[in-house]
Amino acid sequence: MAENPAEQMVFTLNGRAVSVRSDPNLPLLHVLREELGHRATRFGCGQATCGACTVIVDGRAVMSCDMPVSAAVGLAVETAEGLDGVPPHPLVTAFLDHQAGQCGYCLPGILMAAKALLDAEVAPDRARIARALDANLCRCGTHVRILDAVEDAARQIAGRV
Ligand code: FES
Ligand code: FES
Repeated sequence: MAENPAEQMVFTLNGRAVSVRSDPNLPLLHVLREELGHRATRFGCGQATCGACTVIVDGRAVMSCDMPVSAAVGLAVETAEGLDGVPPHPLVTAFLDHQAGQCGYCLPGILMAAKALLDAEVAPDRARIARALDANLCRCGTHVRILDAVEDAARQIAGRV
C-alpha cells in the first residue's frame, strides 16, 4: 500500500488532546498503538470481524482496525487505558470480581463495547448486553462470565447494589 503524505491530526484520547503526525489513512488502531503508545487496544483479525480492536469514538463503539485515523480528527476517542482510574471504572472491578477473562486478549475490546452500551443505556438486561457484545469474539469461551460481569457493572452504575 502506497504511503500518503503525513498530516498533523488532533483528537481527544481519554480526555486529553493529542496531536499526531501520521499517514491519515493508517488505521486508528495502528496510530493508537505505534504512534501514541496506547497498547491496550489489541490487533486481532485486522478485518473488522473479531472486535479485539474496539474503541469508543464520540460515544460509539467502533473497530479501530477498520477506521482511518483521519476519521477521528476532532473527535473523542476512548480506549481501555481510560478505564484505569482511581477508582477504576465499575466494569474493571466487575470483570475482576467475576474472573471474566482467561487469556485476556479480547477484554480491552469487550470492555469498550460494554462501556459504550452502559454510557448510552441505564441498566440494560442480559439479552441487550449480549446483543451489544455480539461482534466481540472470545476464543477462550468466557462469554457467560463476561455477561455476568457486565450485568453486575450495569447494576452498580444504576445504583442497584
Ligand atoms: S482487529 Fe479489528 S476487528 Fe479484529
Ligand atoms: S479471554 Fe481469551 S480471548 Fe477472551
